[in-house]
Amino acid sequence: MLDKTQGNSFYRDVVAGLSMSQKALPPKYFYDERGSQLFEAICELPEYYPTRTEAALLSRIAPDLAKALSGYDHLIEYGSGASKKTRIVLDALTSLKTYVPMDISEEFLLGVAEVLNADYPSLDVVPLVGDFTGDVVLPREVRRGRKIGFFPGSTIGNLGPEGGRDFLRRARRTLGENAAFLLGADLVKDEAVLRAAYNDRAGVTADFNLNLLSRINRELGADFDPCAFHHNAIWNPAESRIEMHLVSDKAQRISVNGHSFRFRKGETIHTENSYKFTPDRLKELAEDAGWSVRQLWADEAFPFAVALLDAR
Ligand code: SAH
Ligand code: AVI
Repeated sequence: MLDKTQGNSFYRDVVAGLSMSQKALPPKYFYDERGSQLFEAICELPEYYPTRTEAALLSRIAPDLAKALSGYDHLIEYGSGASKKTRIVLDALTSLKTYVPMDISEEFLLGVAEVLNADYPSLDVVPLVGDFTGDVVLPREVRRGRKIGFFPGSTIGNLGPEGGRDFLRRARRTLGENAAFLLGADLVKDEAVLRAAYNDRAGVTADFNLNLLSRINRELGADFDPCAFHHNAIWNPAESRIEMHLVSDKAQRISVNGHSFRFRKGETIHTENSYKFTPDRLKELAEDAGWSVRQLWADEAFPFAVALLDAR
């Protein structure tokens, strides 16, 4: 086991994260194949409004997008997952030649790309496995031509203020001078609605959170008992974010491939932040990162925004 995990960034990040006084793990590790499937199940939950709201908003503004983005050649989507909402954009933007779905969840991405290739015969679908928290090297098929970056789902909210700005700066460099960018972001709303969305009654979000421990056991030879932890999601108003935690139900010691970590009863691993924005905060973030806001559309009932940005 040791050989397999030496030099492995997952192993390094887990050891570093569990060594902190507030234990924490990066949310990108949620997404093994099971994690991607669980996220898809979250999107169907009655309490999880973001997916439905953004899909409805994209459908409503599709004619505007068709006008604003006619003549662009390539769509590059960061954290594409099941690419379901993307179909609304692909159907609207008839000048597109290439779609690059980019994701860290390899098997899931390749399965989705195969189906898209069959469903969109005139489009070249070129999947890209990678981590968007680092530099992204685009496939040669999209090196020339005008590009649109697409980052829906409010995944930007999982990166934190600095991480979000750094991501948008890197995307600006990668996509080039005359790029556009479509950014979907969840807006601040009633606290009860927010808390329910991350503490669903069916317990799917809990399974999604706890799957991280099973993944660490499987891939890094750890001995977590997922039944000795429970899921908790809280609203942190000072930071304007939902925080997801895994709470230890008892005092326990966990071993991760030779490293031992002690948990007190009630101690938590902080596994995800999901920042919620105001339209002004979103504009500020984009402008700080070298983009200008051409237009911003928002859903009123479940506040959620889609912003169209231009490279500055
Ligand atoms: N865009 C889809 C999926 C959002 S879920 C939607 O809006 O519904 C977040 C997606 O980003 C997952 O598919 C996950 O695998 C991917 N992801 C998370 N962190 C990532 C990272 N650091 N690099 C690349 N992909 C990542
Ligand atoms: C992918 N991301 C935007 C989701 C969110 O809402 O922060 C992940 C998620 N976590 C729990 N439920 C959904």
